[in-house]
Amino acid sequence: MAARTLIYLFMSTVLLCSTLIAVPLAEGEVMGAGSPSANQTGKRVFKSACAGCHKWHGGGGGGYGGAALSLRSTGLDQEQVAEVVACGRPGTGMPHHDAEAYKQHPCYGMNKEEVGALMPPGPAKDLSEREIAKVAEYVITNVKGKGAPSLEECEEFWGPTSRICSTYRRQNTTDNTARKQAVEGGKETR
Ligand code: HEC
Repeated sequence: MAARTLIYLFMSTVLLCSTLIAVPLAEGEVMGAGSPSANQTGKRVFKSACAGCHKWHGGGGGGYGGAALSLRSTGLDQEQVAEVVACGRPGTGMPHHDAEAYKQHPCYGMNKEEVGALMPPGPAKDLSEREIAKVAEYVITNVKGKGAPSLEECEEFWGPTSRICSTYRRQNTTDNTARKQAVEGGKETR
């Protein structure tokens, strides 16, 4: 009997302690979650897996795999972005990034046979479920709905001294027509 009571006491102490520790940690995470710079995983994935086609700013443009659409002006929500990342776009150059896409994980209701020749290309590297969720969150928070890419945004992405942002630094001192031409002419490296 006494031993049992001791066990109960011990268990409830452990429970109480873990609650006391867990609550402040959980709050700390939630606090940072809303700010655009909090999602470092999403940014890392975007840089390594998406920027090659969609450019660092997500504005898209020509390149391998055809014209990557602008994620700045996308109408998709977070869940839809995650699905496009996981499954790709059948019949286009937008790759799937989920190793089980069209296999264990049917995409747009289709398996491998059903998608057939429209199977989107494979990715340079598959992403985990978490990476897909994080990069979709990044697209919604940091890219979607933003206007023309700015110097501030470029420096946030590449760091304050990056040469990649020098086009934007020059543009800040010249007029807006030159800026538009530089962006539309695709002078940026990414
Ligand atoms: C090999 C080039 C390539 C890579 C890499 C790539 N994309 Fe794409 N993406 C495309 C192309 C091309 C399209 C346009 C498909 C179409 O015509 O519907 C596209 C379309 C999309 C769309 C649909 C946009 C809309 O409004 O319909 C989303 C979302 C998207 N890409 C997100 C991503 C993300 C996030 C990554 C990184 C994980 C990524 N893409 C990597 C080429 C690429």
